[in-house]
Amino acid sequence: MRTQIVAGNWKMNKNLEETEALLSELSAKLPDTNAEVIVAPTFVNLASAVRHLQSSVVQVAAQNMHFEESGAFTGEISADMLLNIGVTTVILGHSERRSLFNEDDAFLAKKVQTALAKDMRIIFCFGEELEERKNNNHFAVVSSQLKNALFNLDTAQWQHLVLAYEPVWAIGTGETATPEQAQEMHAFIRKTIAEAYTPELADEVTILYGGSVKPTNAGEIFSQPDVDGGLIGGASLKCDDFIAIVQAI
Ligand code: 13P
Repeated sequence: MRTQIVAGNWKMNKNLEETEALLSELSAKLPDTNAEVIVAPTFVNLASAVRHLQSSVVQVAAQNMHFEESGAFTGEISADMLLNIGVTTVILGHSERRSLFNEDDAFLAKKVQTALAKDMRIIFCFGEELEERKNNNHFAVVSSQLKNALFNLDTAQWQHLVLAYEPVWAIGTGETATPEQAQEMHAFIRKTIAEAYTPELADEVTILYGGSVKPTNAGEIFSQPDVDGGLIGGASLKCDDFIAIVQAI
């Protein structure tokens, strides 16, 4: 049985008070679930979030990190800094990092190496843009994103990886991939991993879907055989919506 995960990527939202209020509400209302529940507040609120969730099953992830250990990298955060405050999971490769901050596969591969060298768990995001899907290029794009950033890793390192397929055209647009589109791509991802590694490894990897997941569509998406949960943006900022999505798994 693969690990199921529902993760909330809060992006650049919620100040300190709002973060603590949402975390308190979330901890109080969280239903019994077999899924791991993760939240990723902004960097400045991570330490507080870790403290706040000390006796909760809800885990904390960072939205990004740099690959260098330390030094003259103004505005950046290192793996050691995250580990030092108790954050052991990091989201890498989000499409907003790729498109707005020019993070390409080679750059992301370095971040992956650093995170793994530090024994962190990675939620690795990837997905095609609308034009690429329209041109029927989506499988090739996803396969090259995976190959370029991850296929140099050895099998043991994959134990620290969670994949998150997030078609760019579905992020924050209200337009979700249909459950069939999500399943089709997740099955393709597993096939690609099976070819590069082994069917056993492909079968073990948790693959999340992200892109306009809401309480109204989560159940159908999560019921697809190769979808192991979700990476949730907008709907993770509202406690009741996020809880409903956790309940849908
Ligand atoms: P939305 O759920 O707001 O579409 O965002 C998805 C996302 O980017 C999660 O990382």
